[in-house]
Amino acid sequence: MRKVLCGLLTVMLFLTGCKEKIIEEKQKIRIGISYYDSYDPFIMELSSRIEKQLNECENVIVKSVDSEKSQSTQNRQVSDMLSDSYDVICVNLVDRTAPKKIISMAEDSNVPVIFFNRELVSQDLESWTRLYYVGADAGESGKMQGEIVSDYIKEHPEVDKNQDGKIQYIILEGETGHQDAIVRTDVSIQTISDAGIVLDKLSFAIANWNRSQACTKTKQLLSKFNTNIELILANNDEMAIGAIQALTETGIAKEQWPIVIGIDGTEDGLEQVKEGNMIGTVYNDGIKQADAIADLSIALAKNESLDSFNLKNGRYIRSPYQKVTIENVDDYLKLLQ
Ligand code: GAL
Ligand code: CA
Repeated sequence: MRKVLCGLLTVMLFLTGCKEKIIEEKQKIRIGISYYDSYDPFIMELSSRIEKQLNECENVIVKSVDSEKSQSTQNRQVSDMLSDSYDVICVNLVDRTAPKKIISMAEDSNVPVIFFNRELVSQDLESWTRLYYVGADAGESGKMQGEIVSDYIKEHPEVDKNQDGKIQYIILEGETGHQDAIVRTDVSIQTISDAGIVLDKLSFAIANWNRSQACTKTKQLLSKFNTNIELILANNDEMAIGAIQALTETGIAKEQWPIVIGIDGTEDGLEQVKEGNMIGTVYNDGIKQADAIADLSIALAKNESLDSFNLKNGRYIRSPYQKVTIENVDDYLKLLQ
């Protein structure tokens, strides 16, 4: 009898324990993150920082998932998170022109969404009140890239290797249709021309932010133009690094290399600046963006005031870009330690 009673008591204690555990789990804030592609180093640096910040908060459960470049996969991931009672969902859209499904599902469940890095058009972002965007101003990065290049060329007239008064260049572009690829390309070229430098475009290639695609495409362009290229503009560091790899593997003597510049200030990008292979980069402040995403998620989940975020138009947070050259690269390398 005593044995049976003891057994019953253990089961009851166990069940109460389970129940408490379930209640405890239910009281925790759940934040979901879905990013477009785990092979993108800038996005992975950004997402790991968001996770790290959120994991340091008490009573927060964080789950992040890779959409593997498929919008339908991402829609399914968001739908699952909504069914699992997530409080806030952070979305790095696969297709920035196709957020409608995610918005309508979130609205139906009344769960706020923070979109980041891949910017949806303002009409979509404004289609429901609980939608936010965290990113940066693409035009600013193009302008800074153009300024680093024009300052450098003015100080180093030898960049114009054939001394024809023009800078022969190629440009490596990110994904077609991505706001950063379109705007960085236009503004960077415009800024260099506005500084009085005459540009001569030899060619361009779309390399989708990707190092190995950029390497292959630069090799093709090198076989056509060889040492005539004087400048390689890249919409991001990964593609700039792919170009450097192509220059190295093609065996072109370093004195004959064109100048190369990227954008992002990823760890690998900063190292290339430090080694003198890139004349500079533009720091895309993933730390500020990640911290803003983490803080905003918590505030939204707790239904706190958003006043301290100074949201532009009630929805936008944009971190400023910064110029990085050999002069200040060490300050940025330190941030990564
Ligand atoms: C850009 C970044 C690229 C790439 C892209 C993905 O802001 O510069 O390197 O990560 O976002 O959307
Ligand atoms: Ca020239």
